[in-house]
This record gives sequence, structure tokens and C-alpha cells, in this order.
Amino acid sequence: MSNVIAIVNPKGGVGKTTTALNVAAGLLRYSDITSSVLAIDLDPHGCLSSAMLGKVDGKPPARSIFDVMRRAITPHDGITSTVFQENIDILPSSPHLESMAKTQIFDRLKKVTEALSSSYSWIIVDTPPTMNVLTLNALAAADYVLIPTPINGLSVCTLRKLKDDLESARNSNNELLQILGILVTMKDARTKLDEKLVNEVNEIFGPEAFFETHITVNTKLEEAPGEFQSIFSYDSSCVGSTVYRDFLKKEMMQRLAKLEAKRAELIESRY
Ligand SMILES: Nc1ncnc2c1ncn2[C@@H]1O[C@H](COP(=O)(O)OP(=O)(O)OP(=O)(O)O)[C@@H](O)[C@H]1O
Ligand SMILES: [Mg+2]
Repeated sequence: MSNVIAIVNPKGGVGKTTTALNVAAGLLRYSDITSSVLAIDLDPHGCLSSAMLGKVDGKPPARSIFDVMRRAITPHDGITSTVFQENIDILPSSPHLESMAKTQIFDRLKKVTEALSSSYSWIIVDTPPTMNVLTLNALAAADYVLIPTPINGLSVCTLRKLKDDLESARNSNNELLQILGILVTMKDARTKLDEKLVNEVNEIFGPEAFFETHITVNTKLEEAPGEFQSIFSYDSSCVGSTVYRDFLKKEMMQRLAKLEAKRAELIESRY
């Protein structure tokens, strides 16, 4: 059975794709579970797909998550190997996903992840910077939501709305959906987080939501996707590698274990 993790924040440029790419790679390197990882790129801009497929020509891939979601091909037939050293597979994005964003189909991705559940231990879904049908598909399919965000006044405003959207997703089509946590991204290593804003987020999501590891600003994190690599293969000793590795090994895996137990309890209590 797969663990499906959606990387969500409707605000643009907050580190979703950087986190999706490095979490997918890090799970293969550092998770205790013998891992097989599938990345799904639901953003029509396809930045995750370009980085993972080593593509710079901007042409849409021959097979994509769009073809799978419109049922032109099977989920297995949409999968492509990536050029990443970590042996990740991908269901790549397509610009045609924009047309799907105009539909009212919310459960299509769930069917896809269910069909692939026995083939991968982890499915990581990167989402677009808007709460549209594509993102709602990710929330319907996910077991867990990981929220990357810088801490500043504008991002906190988005988080408040996001919390409401997660509640609606839970109430409408995915009652088992759990928040994995909030990962602070793009932090200036020289300054402290604004305490007032941190308290505001704690009020919205609860005091346990933040991960203690912060992803600091590091140019290597910006360079690695352009070289079609995760941060771990690009420069295993840089700050970016250290913070994503610490996040995965010291926090994310432990938190997932707890949430998995809670999920099992929730499923049991339903019967
Ligand atoms: N910790 C970091 N240090 C330096 N640069 C970063 C860091 N995290 C992300 N970036 C850079 O910031 C930009 C935005 O990051 P990214 O694409 O991951 O955000 P996103 O939330 O996926 O954006 P979008 O909403 O447009 O999809 C990219 O150029 C990325 O390389
Ligand atoms: Mg992105």
C-alpha cells in the first residue's frame, strides 16, 4: 500500500516543487521502508517533470498524468522513468492539465493512486499554486498533506484559507486526510522567525504543526533541478542537503509513523 503525500500551498513560489523533488529523492535514500517512489506532477507548468525528466525543450511528454486522468491510457502506461540518480518514477504533467482544471471532476486522481497503490511505497504529488480542481484532486487522493511555506505576513494569510480548504476536503470526500505538517522554507539563516506570525500559524493549525527543521535559503537548492538532480546527488554536503536530510530522517518519518497509527485507528473506528 502506498503512502500518498500531497505537497500543497496555493501561494506561488513557496518551495512546493523543491520540496516534492527532494522529499521523493530523500525517501529513496533515507526511509527505512524498502522504497519505491512515484512522483505525480499536477502543475500544468510542469517544473517537476522538466527537472526529473531532464527536459529543456518545453515540449509536453508523450504520456502524461493528463492522459491518465482523462482515461486515454492506464495509470501504469502513463509512468515514465526519471533521470534522477534515485530511481524515481513519474507521472509527468502536461499543459493540457489546464483544461482539466475547468471541470468538476474531483475523484479522478484518487482512482489513479488506488490503481498504483500496490506498486509504490510512496506517491508524492506536486500541486499548482491555486486551489483549483487539480489541487482538490490531490487532496481527495492524499493520505497526508505537507505544507511548505515561508513565514511572512502574506503567507500566513494564505495558510488561514488553506486550513479551511483542508477541512472541506476532509468533510466532502476524504475524511482520513491528515496534515503531515508545516515545513518552513526559504528561511534566512541569519534571522529568527517572526514570533507573532509563528503564533498566528500555531493558532490556525495547532502548536504541533510546525516541523522544527527549517529549510534555509541555499543557492544549491535552486541550482540542482537545473542539473536534473536532487540536492542529495548534486551536493551531498551543502546546507540544502543537510536540512532536507534532517527533516526527512529526524522528523518526517517519525511523524508519519504516528499519523499512520492514527489513520489505522480511524479506519478501525469506521467499522
Ligand atoms: N530553500 C531555498 N533556497 C533557495 N532557493 C529556493 C529554495 N527553495 C526554493 N527555491 C527556489 O525558489 C523558486 C520557487 O521554488 P519552487 O518552484 O519550489 O516553489 P513552488 O511553490 O513550487 O512554486 P510554484 O507555486 O510556482 O509552483 C525556485 O526558483 C526554487 O529553485
Ligand atoms: Mg511548483
